[in-house]
Amino acid sequence: MGDHLDLLLGVVLMSSPVLGFSPCSSNGLIAVYYFCNLTEVPQVPNTTERLLLSFNYIKSITATSFPFLEQLLLLEIGAQFTPLTIDQEAFRNLPNLRILDLGKTQIDFLHLDAFQGLPRLFELRLFSCGLSDAVLKNGYFRNLESLSRLDLSFNHIHSLALHPSFRELNSLESVDFFLNQIPIVCEPELQPLQGKRLSLLRLASTTLYSRVSVDWERCMNPFRNMVLDTLDVSGNGWTVDIMRNFSNAITGSQIFSLVLTHHIMGPGFGFQNIKDPDQNTFAGLARSSVRRLDLSSGFIFSLSYRLFEALEELKLLSVAQNKINKIADEAFYGLNNLQVLNMSFNLLGELYNSNFYGLPNVAYIDLQKNHIGVIQENTFRSLGKLSTLDLRDNALKTINFISSISTIYLGGNKLVTLPNIPLTANFIQLSENKLENLNNLYFLLQVPHLQILILNQNRLSFCAQPPVPSENLSLEQLYLGENMLQLAWETGSCWDVFKGLSRLQVLYLHNNYLSFLPPGVFSYLIALKTLSLNSNRLTVLSLGDLPPNLEILDVSRNQLLAPDPHVFAPLSVVDITHNKFICECELSTFIKWLNQTNVTIIGSPDDIYCLYPNWLLGTPLYSLSTEDCDEEESLKSLKFSLFILFTVTLTLFLMTVFVVTKFRGSCFLCYKTAERLLLKDQTQTREPDTYRYDAYLCFSSKDFEWVQNALLKHLDTQYSNRNRFNLCFEERDFMPGEDLIANIHTAVWNSRKIICLVSRHFLQDGWCLEAFSCARSRSLADLNSTLIMVVVGSLSQYQLMKHASVRGFVQKQQYLRWPEDLQDVDWFLSKLSRHILKKEKKKEQDTSIPLQTVASIS
Ligand SMILES: *[C@@H]1O[C@H](CO)[C@@H](O)[C@H](O)[C@H]1NC(C)=O
Ligand SMILES: *[C@@H]1O[C@H](CO)[C@@H](O)[C@H](O)[C@H]1NC(C)=O
Ligand SMILES: *[C@@H]1O[C@H](CO)[C@@H](O)[C@H](O)[C@H]1NC(C)=O
Ligand SMILES: *[C@@H]1O[C@H](CO)[C@@H](O)[C@H](O)[C@H]1NC(C)=O
Ligand SMILES: *[C@@H]1O[C@H](CO)[C@@H](O)[C@H](O)[C@H]1NC(C)=O
Ligand SMILES: *[C@@H]1O[C@H](CO)[C@@H](O)[C@H](O)[C@H]1NC(C)=O
Ligand SMILES: *[C@@H]1O[C@H](CO)[C@@H](O)[C@H](O)[C@H]1NC(C)=O
Repeated sequence: MGDHLDLLLGVVLMSSPVLGFSPCSSNGLIAVYYFCNLTEVPQVPNTTERLLLSFNYIKSITATSFPFLEQLLLLEIGAQFTPLTIDQEAFRNLPNLRILDLGKTQIDFLHLDAFQGLPRLFELRLFSCGLSDAVLKNGYFRNLESLSRLDLSFNHIHSLALHPSFRELNSLESVDFFLNQIPIVCEPELQPLQGKRLSLLRLASTTLYSRVSVDWERCMNPFRNMVLDTLDVSGNGWTVDIMRNFSNAITGSQIFSLVLTHHIMGPGFGFQNIKDPDQNTFAGLARSSVRRLDLSSGFIFSLSYRLFEALEELKLLSVAQNKINKIADEAFYGLNNLQVLNMSFNLLGELYNSNFYGLPNVAYIDLQKNHIGVIQENTFRSLGKLSTLDLRDNALKTINFISSISTIYLGGNKLVTLPNIPLTANFIQLSENKLENLNNLYFLLQVPHLQILILNQNRLSFCAQPPVPSENLSLEQLYLGENMLQLAWETGSCWDVFKGLSRLQVLYLHNNYLSFLPPGVFSYLIALKTLSLNSNRLTVLSLGDLPPNLEILDVSRNQLLAPDPHVFAPLSVVDITHNKFICECELSTFIKWLNQTNVTIIGSPDDIYCLYPNWLLGTPLYSLSTEDCDEEESLKSLKFSLFILFTVTLTLFLMTVFVVTKFRGSCFLCYKTAERLLLKDQTQTREPDTYRYDAYLCFSSKDFEWVQNALLKHLDTQYSNRNRFNLCFEERDFMPGEDLIANIHTAVWNSRKIICLVSRHFLQDGWCLEAFSCARSRSLADLNSTLIMVVVGSLSQYQLMKHASVRGFVQKQQYLRWPEDLQDVDWFLSKLSRHILKKEKKKEQDTSIPLQTVASIS
């Protein structure tokens, strides 16, 4: 109880500083008056540097509205709920003001001298103020010698006829006219800007030149004698004709970056009536030194012959988000200086050797989000400078076109396997493909100079004759999350996959269904600092499991029951949240360690909680006391055990009912461990009986490896001393030299139970069928079910019925099926164990144990 109270108090204390914040006040430097129902400027200390007055009801500002605030740098007085009138020299008491924000306030009256007396003003925000052309035509901005940024977007400006005083604005850099209605701009109107260099002139979404027909002879060049770092004419509905006439008109003006997104050039997909840009469209820009051209978001379907020929200085070209399906021959001819080509989000289906002809300096090609299924082998090979190729989210099935490119993105394709081609790369991203065979991973690890390899969300699960890994691999980061390495490792193979990765620093193995770590699998990783095993099914971690120099470990969302603190002690950071801690005295060393360790434990303390026993479910480990455990260890643990027996059984029952499909595997593991703790002694002192073996396992020798991993390792005492059964099988227990039939008979009659693992191989193997018949006759003779039949793999009823002795069994008795879902395996094994142990009275005929449940769950 006390602990809970503390916890609550902590929450309140932590949040109290936030509660102390008051919105209508000043701390001397910053005065915040949002939503304060002000009708006039409040009194603030003369030390104020930022005064924020938005969202109020201030109706007018005059020369006396503000006290003298010499320190004020920023004034926000936009978004008033009432229209505002601004009188003569309204801001003159703010001599050092740098930023004046009036945005989103309806300005009903603006005195011609409103902004006078602001010699330091750097930025003036007048967006969405209901202003008309008058604000440009008259001298409102005169004498603003420091004015650099002028934002006039979202107003009612229809003409850019500028007052001559603009010529004196020597600091002017950026002017924004976004979303005004400015149908036409001609040379005389912008005359005051001639001779200037602007970093940005934004004329986007102004309907410029698209609503009226322009007589360019008379209009001439609006940007004559100007240097524009960026000219933004996006969203103006420009067609190919408008673009051509415009580029011819402005010939000679310097425009380093031309932004023309959201244009309407090109017919789109499936139409013919609108033209794609052609060789003449951009020809007029030849002398404009365009280095960056953004044509994204349009309808271009085909990149035509020598389309960009004139743009010799171009370094970055984006035609992303068009409908490009065709690249004509020599489409990129002349782009000798192009470095970045962005063709992402188009409709390309295949690429040919000739497509990128004429791009000697291209370093980065972005082709993500197309539909590319085929790429001709030499498409990229002639691009000597190509270092980054992005082919994410296409439909590729092979990568035989890749040569030596240092950064390769191939995520979201349809790769099932990789060809054995010579590769050199620093970075390879292959997530969200369908790679299955770990040989692909072995192959990639050998790529010279590779530093980062991303293979998340594949299906790596299969291990067949992997090559011997070489030494000294260069890889530094390896991402293998969301694969199925458990399937590969549980067959006992590919345990050396990380061999040679002596420089690996980061390894992600989250969501791989791992229920164990192969012994020594990380021992080669001497440089590994960060390891994620998040969201697997690990129940234990032992000291030798982790790489030798690990610093950061994430084992959250596993099934750790009672971890050994020594495993974590050498680390500096560990995440152990959301495990399945069993809060009995065995956990007390761990709890004590948690309380005093220097290792940084990440995640909220509330996420490290008990799962069992039920009455402690969800209780944070930090809040548990271990005192009782130290004093009366034995008594306590007994009490716990009894309790657990009860609650666990109950929980298990309820859980099986409710979440049997979802969590049955994990629930069972927990139950199992609890049970093991409890019944430890009982199982060991099991009374001996007359049979030499607990069970004879009869299976095809072709299945041996599988049986060894799936059954023997979990049941037979020789495989692990945690197992309890003395099993008999041909490969180990048959007398060499003796007749096989004789051996089978001995095995059948000397074992309490016979387990036949009926697989495809089993049915093809005469000896197996013989053993089956023999076991069946003993079963009949004993009048009980000594024979347990387990069907492995997807055998149909028909396949089973083909063989007389099997048919006889199947017709009369129930059989088991090996579970398809991995998480049911433990449960299945335990069920099987109980069948092996079960002794039956000789009289009971044909009671083949309640196998029904097992058969029906699979
Ligand atoms: C502003 O006025 C409204 C309505 O009268 C009131 O609900 C609100 O609390 C006032 N806000 C402040 C900060 O005084
Ligand atoms: C602020 O006002 C006080 C007196 O009201 C004056 O002594 C002080 O110098 C002023 N500080 C500034 C920075 O103007
Ligand atoms: C482009 O210019 C040509 C020749 O001056 C003219 O005939 C045509 O109408 C113009 N097109 C547009 C859309 O302005
Ligand atoms: C290419 O354009 C797309 C879409 O506009 C963008 O997401 C991507 O970052 C661009 N690629 C490069 C290399 O700039
Ligand atoms: C591995 O690299 C180290 C130094 O980088 C070198 O001393 C050693 O000989 C290399 N071993 C092999 C097998 O190449
Ligand atoms: C934690 O660090 C302190 C000071 O560095 C040291 O005295 C103490 O022994 C450390 N505790 C553990 C459990 O390592
Ligand atoms: C945790 O440590 C503090 C002092 O370091 C001690 O008072 C407290 O009892 C400990 N809690 C547990 C659960 O060991």
